[in-house]
Amino acid sequence: MVNLDFNNITKIIANDLEEIERILLEKTRIHYDFVDDAVRHVIEGGGKRLRPILLILSSKACGYTGTGAHILAACIELIHVASLVHDDVLDDAPIRRSQATLHSKWGNKVAVLVGDYLHARVLSMLASRGSDDPALEILAKAAQAMCEGEVIHAYKNGDFEICENSYLKIVELKTGKLISASCHTGAILGTKNLEHVNALTKYGELIGIAFQIIDDLLDFVADPEKFGKQPFKDLHEGKLTFPMIYVRENCTKEERKTLEDIFNTVEPASDQTIEWMNQLLESYRVKSYCLKVTQKYVDRAKAALNVLPNTDAKVALNNLGDSLVSRDS
Ligand code: IPE
Ligand code: IPE
Ligand code: MG
Ligand code: MG
Repeated sequence: MVNLDFNNITKIIANDLEEIERILLEKTRIHYDFVDDAVRHVIEGGGKRLRPILLILSSKACGYTGTGAHILAACIELIHVASLVHDDVLDDAPIRRSQATLHSKWGNKVAVLVGDYLHARVLSMLASRGSDDPALEILAKAAQAMCEGEVIHAYKNGDFEICENSYLKIVELKTGKLISASCHTGAILGTKNLEHVNALTKYGELIGIAFQIIDDLLDFVADPEKFGKQPFKDLHEGKLTFPMIYVRENCTKEERKTLEDIFNTVEPASDQTIEWMNQLLESYRVKSYCLKVTQKYVDRAKAALNVLPNTDAKVALNNLGDSLVSRDS
């Protein structure tokens, strides 16, 4: 199999993804129009479907050929979408997936309700699979870890001193665990071989961390059209993320002082501030540092897959890891 980019990876599992979309639409329909419109907005509003893709590929890499993966992939995507809806309220984000965020269109009350409703749908979708389905515990733990990560990050809001290690622990919780659970859930559908299951779980956790570091970087350097989110949002919201922690540790005392002032400013970054920040990012080669660290995580993730038999799905997972480093959306 040749090297695949993200789009080509999605093409090889297009039928699975189509079925997952159908389930997402069917299972989230609600007969209160004002909530249904908002639910449609977030379910039909795009997104990369990274977690479903990982679940499907992981199941195939472990030899699974059935159709039970689809409903589980839909459950994971719904947990993710719910987290985005609530996260956008916390971050006061105006744009996601290149469109107005749910709360900016319908208000915070509807956003809270829709997030809760999506979680409730997941519970009932999982319950319909029976209480002995091991996916139940994996997803419950991952959703809890994700919430804990969001709670800790919200609690650290405005903390200019957070260190890289503490930050990476938050990332492992808020992003790594759900991505890891996608791979874990897919793996156990196909195999009882613990070595293989652990390999995919590890792979997911490592690429999850890599994925968040790139998301943090894109907040500063992405083309907003492609990224679909408002740039410089993390800094403005008082969220110190991976690139800024690196700058803070390496810049001069004067630059650090200016950076802290910008961090503590409530107004959105002015053109002048953005210009200054861009120069700072440039002079400390922040992009190349983030890409280097991310590639290290991805290489470790790919190495974990070595124990798996050689399949097209394994090749796709390897390629997917690399595509996450170079992504721009
Ligand atoms: C955004 O996740 C939140 C993070 C964990 C960084 P995605 O980038 O997977 O969001 P969508 O689903 O593609 O919009
Ligand atoms: C939050 O991370 C990820 C979640 C677990 C919801 P971010 O706050 O960086 O995600 P974006 O940038 O808003 O998508
Ligand atoms: Mg956010
Ligand atoms: Mg982000």
